[in-house]
Amino acid sequence: MTRVPSGLAGLDKLLDGGFPQNSCTLLSGGPGTGKTLLSLNFVESRVDANEKSCYISFNEDTTGLFRAAEGTGLEIEKTAIKHMDLLEDINVTDFIKTIETYPKLDRLVIDNINKLLLFSKDKADYRHQLYRLINFLRKNVKATLLICETDNGMDTGNGEAFECDGVVGISFLELEEIPMRTIQIHKMRYTAIEPKVAHELVIESTGLKLSERKGI
Ligand SMILES: Nc1ncnc2c1ncn2[C@@H]1O[C@H](COP(=O)(O)OP(=O)(O)OP(=O)(O)O)[C@@H](O)[C@H]1O
Ligand SMILES: [Mg+2]
Repeated sequence: MTRVPSGLAGLDKLLDGGFPQNSCTLLSGGPGTGKTLLSLNFVESRVDANEKSCYISFNEDTTGLFRAAEGTGLEIEKTAIKHMDLLEDINVTDFIKTIETYPKLDRLVIDNINKLLLFSKDKADYRHQLYRLINFLRKNVKATLLICETDNGMDTGNGEAFECDGVVGISFLELEEIPMRTIQIHKMRYTAIEPKVAHELVIESTGLKLSERKGI
């Protein structure tokens, strides 16, 4: 199985080398957990200069993304950043066409998938659109991260975790009264994982990393 490194050595170790090639992973978490930074780190950690990365944000504009990365050691200058204004409906057919204008992408991030739900007719329509999008991404991009804003669960309760090949959650945990950010792999198809073990995610001026600390 060919793997696409996640950008975090510690996470790659847990994933047998990285995300399975041609997979789509849901990156879920609450506000401020580190979804954007982890994803920027993923697109910026290209293995070689020929790899093509794309970060699509419905949340922040280019300036916002640069600001988010400031002070974290992330160099996002070379990354292709596409900002889409939410002035019109987000329609999956148009969205797929937009992604097709960037052929042969290696790494793609969509920040975030919740916006698609906002513009769907109903839950069934959303699930169907999501299915179409994920199938397209599997065939056209080596590894995709779909960011999902959640409260506590793995997804919004509308099937995102079932549709995606993998689910990685970031959350805050208090271990011995010391609060920390943690990453949990809830699911990763084609990969032997240690489910539910929470590994500490550290965000600091020199970058992002997984520490040795973990909790259940
Ligand atoms: N150099 C740094 N050292 C420590 N923490 C930092 C540093 N830079 C940013 N952070 C923290 O990382 C947090 C996570 O940022 P990020 O934008 O990735 O979260 P997010 O999950 O995308 O949030 P949102 O749901 O609001 O989009 C920031 O809120 C900030 O507190
Ligand atoms: Mg964010």
